[in-house]
Amino acid sequence: MAGNTISGNNKSEFLHDDVYESIPPNYDLINHLFTGGMDIRWRKKAARETVALSPKSILDICCGTGDLSLSVAKLAAKDAKVTGVDFSRPMLDVAVRKAQKAGLDITFVTGDIADIPFAADSFDSMCIGFGFRNLTYKNEMSAQYISEILRVLKPGGRFVIVESSQPAPDAKIIKFFHRFYVKYIVSGLGRIISGNNAAYNYLAESAANYYGAEELRDLLLKSGFEKVTFKRLFFGAAAIHVAEK
Ligand SMILES: C[S@@+](CC[C@H](N)C(=O)[O-])C[C@H]1O[C@@H](n2cnc3c(N)ncnc32)[C@H](O)[C@@H]1O
Repeated sequence: MAGNTISGNNKSEFLHDDVYESIPPNYDLINHLFTGGMDIRWRKKAARETVALSPKSILDICCGTGDLSLSVAKLAAKDAKVTGVDFSRPMLDVAVRKAQKAGLDITFVTGDIADIPFAADSFDSMCIGFGFRNLTYKNEMSAQYISEILRVLKPGGRFVIVESSQPAPDAKIIKFFHRFYVKYIVSGLGRIISGNNAAYNYLAESAANYYGAEELRDLLLKSGFEKVTFKRLFFGAAAIHVAEK
């Protein structure tokens, strides 16, 4: 059956858990608005990296409303199995509906990245779209999340991250506009459209202060990945990292 859910676990005492219980109705729309629609293209690029080595088993973590899972499922081989995992039931409900509508066979599982509900070495390829910041920005569980990702990824498998980033260190003018945009536009407009102050204050604060591309690469290498490459997107507003186990 296209787009189904299985219950897994939910262990994180995650500070921002509530954030995702209240955003879903216009979550996708706000994302597209803030990035001028570029997030759609960025997820597609990430999906291409995710399927580049013809994986047969793929896990999209923090899959949310499923946009990256759908992109991956469209590009993956016919016999590849695509799974999405997230701890927010409302987000997964939206994902299931989208997969059904698109006629794509994706399994969505409720589960916590602190304790991913799969055996070691289960996946050829894994990906995450705009969720790695949640897992690693000022988050005391960060090391646990990354060690879980490494555990369920097969040796030689790749983990693809598409995430907001920082303009290159020497791009001073872009850096100024980026900070202004994130600080005033993202938090202000997000609050007005969603009515959720806390969520969009968190989004703006974490986006303004998150790792640059080199810092994220170094974190991944320090955490145990063998090789990490990255590409900046739109002057560094976002980046795609490919990390190999
Ligand atoms: C910013 S959304 C990204 C959703 C989607 N990947 C996308 O591309 O739009 C972050 C997602 O991460 C999920 N999340 C955050 N922490 C999590 C955790 N510890 N375990 C499982 N899901 C988590 C949230 O529920 C939310 O759906």
